[in-house]
This record gives sequence, C-alpha cells and structure tokens, in this order.
Amino acid sequence: MPRVDLIQGDITVVEVDAVVNAANSSLLGGGGVDGAIHRNGGPSILEECQRIRREQHSEGLPTGRAVATTAGKLPARWVIHTVGPVYSATEDRSHLLASCHTESLRVADDLGAGSIAFPAISTGIYGYPLEAAADVALSTVTDSNTDVDLIMFVLFEERAMRVFEATLGRIQRVKGRTS
Ligand code: APR
Repeated sequence: MPRVDLIQGDITVVEVDAVVNAANSSLLGGGGVDGAIHRNGGPSILEECQRIRREQHSEGLPTGRAVATTAGKLPARWVIHTVGPVYSATEDRSHLLASCHTESLRVADDLGAGSIAFPAISTGIYGYPLEAAADVALSTVTDSNTDVDLIMFVLFEERAMRVFEATLGRIQRVKGRTS
C-alpha cells in the first residue's frame, strides 16, 4: 500500500515527480488549480496540451481520464491532467471521481513516477462536497496497487485539510482492523 500524506498549501510548488491538475475537457486552462499550474508552469504546458488535443483527444479529454505533459517551470517533472466530474445531487458520479485517481496513478506508473500530488479534484468550481470527495479520493488511492511510493494530497483551504485528515484517519483505522 503506498504512503499517503496530506499537506496544506499550493500544489504548484510541491517537489514531487508528478502533480495532478484538476483540468477541464478542453485541456486549455481555466481557474483554480488549472489556472495556477498553467500560470506558474508557463506556456510549454499549454502547448503540449494543445498537441494532445490535436493528436489524441480532438473531442476533448473525457471525464475520468488522464494524460501527462511535462511540468514546464514547476518543480515537478510531469503534470498529469485529469477531468473530474461536475457534482450532481441527483446522479452518482463517484465512479468518475474514482477514475480520475486510478487513471492518474496508471499514467504515473507508465511514466515511472515515484511520487504524485493530487489536489482535491472537483471540490472547487465543480462543486463536489468535500466529505464525499475525500472519501472517494482516499479510498481509491489506499486501495490502489500502484508502483508510486508516495501519494500526497495538497489541500488549499484549511477546511479541506481538516476533512481529508478526518477521512484518512477513519479509512486507516478501518484498514488497520481488516488488514
Ligand atoms: N493548489 C492546491 N489546491 C488548489 C489550488 C492550488 N494552487 N488552487 C485551488 N485549489 C483547490 C480548490 O480550493 C479546490 O479545493 O483545488 C480544489 C479543486 O478546485 P478547482 O481548481 O476549482 O477544480 P475543480 O473543482 O475540479 O473544477 C475544475 O475548474 O479551474 C477550472 O479548468 C478547470 O474547468 C475546470 C474546473
């Protein structure tokens, strides 16, 4: 089982092999994490995203899928762009949020990344409640059989940090009883 660490801060300054971007299907940038990664990483990231759109995903990257680019000026080596689901109160989209994590870890394994940092995907502009998102994200990564040694979640707001800490503690207590 990979080590899972939680920190509060800005994902664009974290020194890991791969940082995960909460992108949208266009891969052409946006606000939140997406805006910060493109702003701090520089234009080479967008240029690679535009090439991926031309060569692999002309219709846009589907929700739940992930692709990698270099990280430009960021301390990381790669950015893994994934598209989270927009929250719906009437339709359970948790499988798509889980897929963002499993697909990002699959891409990280393909790259040979030893460490990865996730933001709280879909919990900003896409409106996913923190408690539900934390449960999906942390359950998915703790159950993964990835080669990545260190999985980090970088939480921007203090409340997100508290929710992820409480959720991870509950998951690890349950696993401690069952493993
Ligand atoms: N580092 C870490 N976390 C951050 C940062 C940052 N620099 N900036 C924002 N966050 C947090 C937000 O507080 C939120 O908890 O990342 C989480 C995800 O929020 P968003 O970035 O809004 O992503 P999401 O909810 O998945 O919405 C994706 O927003 O930015 C656009 O282009 C993106 O259309 C897409 C949509």
